[in-house]
Amino acid sequence: MELSDLLTSRIRDVPDWPKPGVVFKDISPLLADHEAFTALVDALADQCAEAGVQKVVGIEARGFILAAPVAYRAGAGFVPVRKQGKLPCATFAESYDLEYGSATLEVHQDAFAPGERVLVIDDVLATGGTVAATIALVRRAGAEVAGVSVLLELGFLAGRAKLDGLLPDTSVRSFLTI
Ligand code: PRP
Ligand code: MG
Repeated sequence: MELSDLLTSRIRDVPDWPKPGVVFKDISPLLADHEAFTALVDALADQCAEAGVQKVVGIEARGFILAAPVAYRAGAGFVPVRKQGKLPCATFAESYDLEYGSATLEVHQDAFAPGERVLVIDDVLATGGTVAATIALVRRAGAEVAGVSVLLELGFLAGRAKLDGLLPDTSVRSFLTI
C-alpha cells in the first residue's frame, strides 16, 4: 500500500468536535497501528537525513508524539517547543493569533548550538500560526530551519501561504493534504 493511503486509512473524522460544525481529524488510530506509525516515523527520519539536521523540534503537544521517535531514529537531538510557562530555564517567546485570542509558545534559549540545522515537526498545519511562531523561535535561538514537516495539511486554511517568505515552499512538506 502507498504510504499516503496507509496514513489516510488510519485517520478518522470526528464530526462536531471540539465544537459543532468542525470535523476533527483524529490520528489516534494511526498512532495505535504499528505499521502506519513506524512508516511515518521512518519517512520523517529519512527527511532528517536528506536535510542533514542535528535537531528535531516537536511542537507541544501532538508534535511531541511524532518528533521524539523521529529524533531517535534519525540520530538527532529532540527539542520541545512548549506552551507558555512550561519550560524551567530562560526562554524565547512568540505569540500568535488564534480564532479567539492568542497563544504563546516558548523554547529554551540554549536549546541549540549556533547554526544547528533543524527539522520542525507537527501533526497538523492549519492556519500556520503555530509553525510560523516556531520558526521564529528556532531562529531567535540561533539555529537554522532546514524544513517543516507535518502529517496533515488543511489546505483550505492556507497555512502554507502564511509561511511564504519565511521558508522556501519546497521546505514545507506534508504527507497528506485535504
Ligand atoms: C493544533 C495542531 C497544530 C496546530 C495547528 O494544536 O496540533 O499544532 O493546532 O494550527 P495552526 O496551523 O492554525 O496554528 P493545538 O494548538 O490545538 O494544541 P495541541 O497540539 O496541544 O492539541
Ligand atoms: Mg498542536
